[in-house]
Amino acid sequence: MTAIASVKGRRVWDSRGNPTVEVDVVLENGVLGRAIAPAGASRGTREAIDLRDGGAALRGMDVKRALASVNGPIAHALIGRDVADQARVDAAILALDASPLKESLGGNATVAVSLAVLHAAAADARRPLWRHVADHYGTDASLPLPEIQIFGGGAHAGRRVDIQDFMIMVPGARNFDEVMEITSEVYFAAGDIMAQKGRMAGVADEGGWWPVFDSNEEALETLVAAIEKAGEKPGDRVVISLDIAASEFGSKGAYRLALEDRSMDSAALIDMLGGWLDAYPIASIEDPVGEDDVAGMIEFTRRFGDRVQIIGDDYLVTNAALVDEAAEAGACNAVLVKVNQAGTVTESVETFLAARARGWGAIVSARSGETEDVSISHLSTGLGGGQLKVGSFTRSERMVKWNECLRIQDDLGQASFVGGAPLAATWWGAKQKETT
Ligand code: PGA
Ligand code: ZN
Repeated sequence: MTAIASVKGRRVWDSRGNPTVEVDVVLENGVLGRAIAPAGASRGTREAIDLRDGGAALRGMDVKRALASVNGPIAHALIGRDVADQARVDAAILALDASPLKESLGGNATVAVSLAVLHAAAADARRPLWRHVADHYGTDASLPLPEIQIFGGGAHAGRRVDIQDFMIMVPGARNFDEVMEITSEVYFAAGDIMAQKGRMAGVADEGGWWPVFDSNEEALETLVAAIEKAGEKPGDRVVISLDIAASEFGSKGAYRLALEDRSMDSAALIDMLGGWLDAYPIASIEDPVGEDDVAGMIEFTRRFGDRVQIIGDDYLVTNAALVDEAAEAGACNAVLVKVNQAGTVTESVETFLAARARGWGAIVSARSGETEDVSISHLSTGLGGGQLKVGSFTRSERMVKWNECLRIQDDLGQASFVGGAPLAATWWGAKQKETT
């Protein structure tokens, strides 16, 4: 075994200019593992809590208390432990914090340490991280299918539109390179259309175009137009993916689309989204109802679960027990896996594997506040058969993740791209079957 010799946190800064936690784990042989905590803006109420200092300085966002968790109790509990035993390491971290949402240590502290340990173990085994993940968890590595944001909305764009993410997926691409090429064409076609309409106003938090639209549906229409302008037939190689992030504009009984000055109950929201599923080539939809709207999610899944991927993000908060519960209840058919929502690698991998065991989709995801950390590119590849959501097709904290996948592709080979596999259970998969 190789023992952990030191665990050290430092304050670094994220893509929104906020402080965040970076951790260096150094082993007895001098090998280093390093990772940085990301930060969400549209957070589920049941996800691990980022410990922030509060007060006036740095708008209350400083992380000195989280760093104290890393450099104090966490370092103390981990020094001397076998770096290769991720489950034990994570259990030792959990044993320090009895609170359900990791509020005493801080989820930002635990996630950075847990990921840094994973990196150190991979480096110690002289393996790329994705390979270490596949070896460690006994999974078949494959490059994920990206979900890439074209327009950012909701909490990532000052609530300019209500819907949070207007994205594309390219399940019809032959390899990861082709996904990047087609996405680039669509992204810039969308920008051209915004400019032509006199609506070019920069970008949102994750680098998608700032959504100057009169209605949420106009964003969808513009996205279809952009796919066409890029020379693609919507619904053929390229499909649409939405993150409604409905918890941001309502809960079970009452939703309010501020842009359109419309209030609606759960049934009306479900009907509206169902109308969109009929009218647009949407293959995946995330958090279509609020995180507390269990009846709504079950109803949405009953009506549309056989034709679209329905992802629980705020609804499932990267929690394996919630995935099992939802599957039993007939809510959702896919889960978003955000490592900092769970707070440790072990809990995140458990969630991913629980979803896959049920035949669900599993989408490893970044947060809207990100950094140069590329752990999730490796995690999604190593666990295999999945999808990857990291925001748009600009800005280095996003591109660094896509570019890392291209480097991994050089090792793994183009054939390892899973492409349409995750969407085989949707109308898109059925259509591919018919045409082949
Ligand atoms: P967040 O949102 O990172 O701002 O919480 C991302 C998402 O809802 O998928
Ligand atoms: Zn989401």
